Amino acid sequence: MARTQSIVILTGAGISAESGVDTFRDKDGIWSKYDYRDVATPEGFVRNPKMVFDFYNMRRRGLAKVKPNAAHEALARLEQEFSGAFLLVTQNIDNLHERAGSRNLIHMHGELDSALCKVCECRSDWPDDMEQGSSCPACGTVGYLRPDVVWFGEMPYQMDRIHESLAGCDLFLSIGTSGNVYPAAGFVDFARAHGAHTVELNLEPSEGHSVFHDAIHGKATKIVPDYVERILMGL
Ligand code: NAD
Ligand code: APR
Repeated sequence: MARTQSIVILTGAGISAESGVDTFRDKDGIWSKYDYRDVATPEGFVRNPKMVFDFYNMRRRGLAKVKPNAAHEALARLEQEFSGAFLLVTQNIDNLHERAGSRNLIHMHGELDSALCKVCECRSDWPDDMEQGSSCPACGTVGYLRPDVVWFGEMPYQMDRIHESLAGCDLFLSIGTSGNVYPAAGFVDFARAHGAHTVELNLEPSEGHSVFHDAIHGKATKIVPDYVERILMGL
């Protein structure tokens, strides 16, 4: 590990689980309570925008009740103390990485804190509760705001920058994701093909666990701080 010059980290819902944020595909996960086709697809939004606004308004209000955990804090520490290149890519739309101090961060599936205007394409801070009649803070148009969240079938954000970083990193960590969703689930193959050492840190083996060079299974608040310590000690 002493030679590590560039790290790319991917996180999923599992890193926020111990903060009290529901994951998607675990027992009692979000997709056991909601049909993703109703609340996480463009078609669902056209069919019933109120259901989608209610879903994201409820999740956004939930953010006020949770806080970053030791795993989020360990990644912020790693970014601050690691001397090489560092990029954190999250599939999560919560703001726990930022609140823990992470800065070089990409939300590839968007953010609960952000609203997107379909007219001027500006992103703005989400009003208290978004609804069909909300107006865009940037252009004032009424009725064209949507959650700034990437839904099924839509392209994630900043993929070029993510692939460029993956091609140049020598250590790729995947933390708290089930490896069910592409393109995120393919990042390990891409990083490995470009020479990176790849490690999965997850509660249990993910869909793609066999592709990783190493795997550490356990709760994120335990295994992530321990692994960050090893990287910083050059082990
Ligand atoms: P995809 O294969 O990524 O999505 C299909 C996903 O739907 C599968 O991973 C599966 O886990 C999930 N799925 C299928 N039936 C489900 C059910 N009943 N309940 C819950 N999950 C179910 O293909 P896609 O839908 O075209 O998505 C690809 C694009 O959409 C990618 O760019 C991805 O980043 C984006 N995106 C996907 C998801 C997602 O959960 N798949 C979420 C946000 C954004
Ligand atoms: N510590 C570590 N890992 C955990 C913990 C924990 N305390 N709790 C759960 N996990 C792991 C689970 O084992 C699972 O593999 O986190 C993973 C969560 O997987 P998902 O619920 O599928 O969440 P994620 O992989 O982030 O989903 C990807 O799917 O629906 C979309 O947009 C949604 O971004 C999300 C994407």
